[in-house]
Amino acid sequence: LLPCATAIAYPNIALIKYWGKRDEALILPMTGSLSLTLDVHATTTTVSPDARLSADAVEFNGTLIDDAAARKVAVFLDLVRQRVGSRVFARVRTRNDGPTAAGLASSASGFAALAAAAAHAYALELTPRELSRLARRGSGSASRSVFGGFAIWHAGQDDASSFAEPVQAASLDVAMVMAVIQAGQKAISSRVAMRRTVETSPFYPGWLHQNPLDLEAMQQALAAGDFTRMGELTEANALRMHATMLGAMPPVRYLAPDSLRILDEVAALRQRGVPAYATMDAGPNVKVLCQRHDALAVADALRALLGDVGRVVVAHAGPGVRVCEAE
Ligand code: DP6
Repeated sequence: LLPCATAIAYPNIALIKYWGKRDEALILPMTGSLSLTLDVHATTTTVSPDARLSADAVEFNGTLIDDAAARKVAVFLDLVRQRVGSRVFARVRTRNDGPTAAGLASSASGFAALAAAAAHAYALELTPRELSRLARRGSGSASRSVFGGFAIWHAGQDDASSFAEPVQAASLDVAMVMAVIQAGQKAISSRVAMRRTVETSPFYPGWLHQNPLDLEAMQQALAAGDFTRMGELTEANALRMHATMLGAMPPVRYLAPDSLRILDEVAALRQRGVPAYATMDAGPNVKVLCQRHDALAVADALRALLGDVGRVVVAHAGPGVRVCEAE
């Protein structure tokens, strides 16, 4: 009899971004990336293999789903079943604390939780590194949510060498203040957008050149506990990613008017002596990296700016994935 397993994982926000795959099937990235795992918007996933099922039954926030997301889950479970030689389907129940597919990294927490729960439920014993490789097959950024705090995902050359691991930093006393200006579905998925960027943007070679340099500099800043440098690199790297996708055909533009207003406000905060730096992913929301003791001031400034237009959430460094119960 197979056990039922529940896992909880948190989203991560990349300070140095992943944008582009060299292998779509294995989800091998073009370059390495580095992120901070958060302590809000957790995903909790339970996998219960059941020999009576004739297909995987996927429930999301209490509703049975049968769409592209459900098929991605089934394809992912097939990977796990292949490894252990099982043909038993499972009931999968997922609950998200945060908005889904709005550039707030729900696929990262989602596949990290699914990987851990499925591995446990199907009795597939994995090291943290192997779990990171497995989570990567669901969504690239999920490889990093296996770990808490700062994590680096090494690009690698093949399945075995492309995994994330924790990065020791001189200090974890940072906060990520998130301005959620649109919690709905994004216009174009990051998967499609990054493929289009790789195939059509004349700026993409520039990204391939610069991103490893940004990654190296970020690791040095983390080791030195140099917050200003971390922040400058974070904001520059995010804007470089958006610049490369603006060059795609047709262009990929996630930056919205409210995103730009927030970027201006973050610059104004710096003028007033508050070290704060913005980053953006595949959506219009802006996440602001700052030091823990400045988080409330940053949140207040963003709330005053946005009024009713958005919601502001303060996050800190969060934990890696964990399996929290099994029966
Ligand atoms: C902009 O990990 O969601 O958030 O591997 O196709 O599932 P797939 O993409 P995904 O892309 C994340 C892109 C990003 C940057 C990042 O998190 O590094």
